[in-house]
Amino acid sequence: MTALVVADAAEVGPGEVKSVQVRLGPEPAVIGPPQEQGPPGTTAIVVAHTEAGEWYAIGDVCSHGPVLLSEGEFDGCTLECWGHGSRFDLANGEPENLPADQPVPTYPVFVEDGQVVIHL
Ligand code: FES
Repeated sequence: MTALVVADAAEVGPGEVKSVQVRLGPEPAVIGPPQEQGPPGTTAIVVAHTEAGEWYAIGDVCSHGPVLLSEGEFDGCTLECWGHGSRFDLANGEPENLPADQPVPTYPVFVEDGQVVIHL
């Protein structure tokens, strides 16, 4: 796995999210703000800092359609898609309700030296 810094921890307070577009491959990099349908070889990833102080990272594009979950409601340990209302569990990427019936990817995330780091 490859570690990638996606944010300064100080810019993502409890109850906040930050999303970025990531280039995948042997030398991953943050290439800009998230896109619903980004270039091939890239993906949108959202990091979420819960009110309880936990950090999660999941794929930011809803499994049901091209909608960014980071633009939906962040409640507890879920992100709700504004498209049709499916709520995704940040811990495992699974939708809790229809219409989405497929999970989004999850990524290990940790905070080190004030930076939010994900593992790809
Ligand atoms: S696009 Fe997300 S639930 Fe339909």
